[in-house]
Amino acid sequence: MSKVILITGASSGIGKAIGEFLHHKGYTVYGTSRNPEKVFNSVFPLLALDVRSTESITTCIAKVISISGRIDVVVNNAGVGIIGPLEEIPTSEIRNNFETNLFGPIEVMKAILPQMRSQKSGLIINITSIAGYMGLPYRAVYSASKGALEYVTEALRMEVKPFNIEITNVAPGEFATNIAASRYHVPLSPASAYSNYAKTIETINEQVDGGDDPKAMAETIYKIINTEKPNVHYKVGPFLSKFSIVLKRILPDKRYEKMLMKHYKL
Ligand SMILES: NC(=O)c1ccc[n+]([C@@H]2O[C@H](COP(=O)([O-])OP(=O)(O)OC[C@H]3O[C@@H](n4cnc5c(N)ncnc54)[C@H](OP(=O)(O)O)[C@@H]3O)[C@@H](O)[C@H]2O)c1
Repeated sequence: MSKVILITGASSGIGKAIGEFLHHKGYTVYGTSRNPEKVFNSVFPLLALDVRSTESITTCIAKVISISGRIDVVVNNAGVGIIGPLEEIPTSEIRNNFETNLFGPIEVMKAILPQMRSQKSGLIINITSIAGYMGLPYRAVYSASKGALEYVTEALRMEVKPFNIEITNVAPGEFATNIAASRYHVPLSPASAYSNYAKTIETINEQVDGGDDPKAMAETIYKIINTEKPNVHYKVGPFLSKFSIVLKRILPDKRYEKMLMKHYKL
């Protein structure tokens, strides 16, 4: 019997790449989108889901279970970017980012855990970010929402071990997807006090546009699904992004900060 896999945010980018890869490997894949009726090229079924709505989450999960009888793997992938000087980001946008990147995945986990407990097995893969391992300039909110999800995963892993449920984090570096185009960004303004924000936004956009093929993420997810006891953390992406986590561990804080500032031309 092929494993049943639910991937949130599978209409584009990383989620779509994971869905296509697993579909071609013979798994039963369900993806989600806030507007599935607008997506015409999906090779696996797309269900309606907005992770900011608990009702939408429970309806989506109930639908998969009613069709396939179980859910073996959930890939908590839906997420959005946000960029700008913290002082200038509207609080409503900060809340929206946390609703999508942190509270959404938490609600998905809360909704799926009773089913996985009754199945006596399950795997949840939370897609976080290498940006969640450090506070990045003009990405305070994104770093915080993804870093918080890393800690939630670490904690929950230990809580659900008795139920034979595995949870893991996969932190991508830069991948060429729609994330830059669809993220909230504070508009550049000559009136802003943060004159170096323009240079940083340019560096970040270049990195994402020149990012890796999301297929690398799909291959990692496939390996994790076929690992009996997955690790706590996985990092996927360009060498420099992954190495930045190692540097944070070994360099003195101020030296590391200086390095980040130089990288982002601050
Ligand atoms: N690309 C990178 O360099 C990178 C780096 C680090 C981490 N990540 C993380 O990887 C994940 C996938 O991002 P991506 O790069 O593939 O970006 P993407 O191409 O923009 O895809 C984002 C997906 O999330 C869905 N989504 C957005 N808001 C949602 C909501 N409120 N409820 C449900 N679904 C929602 C979108 O679907 P609809 O618009 O169809 O609803 C879309 O399928 C995200 O969690 C992102 O933070 C990406």
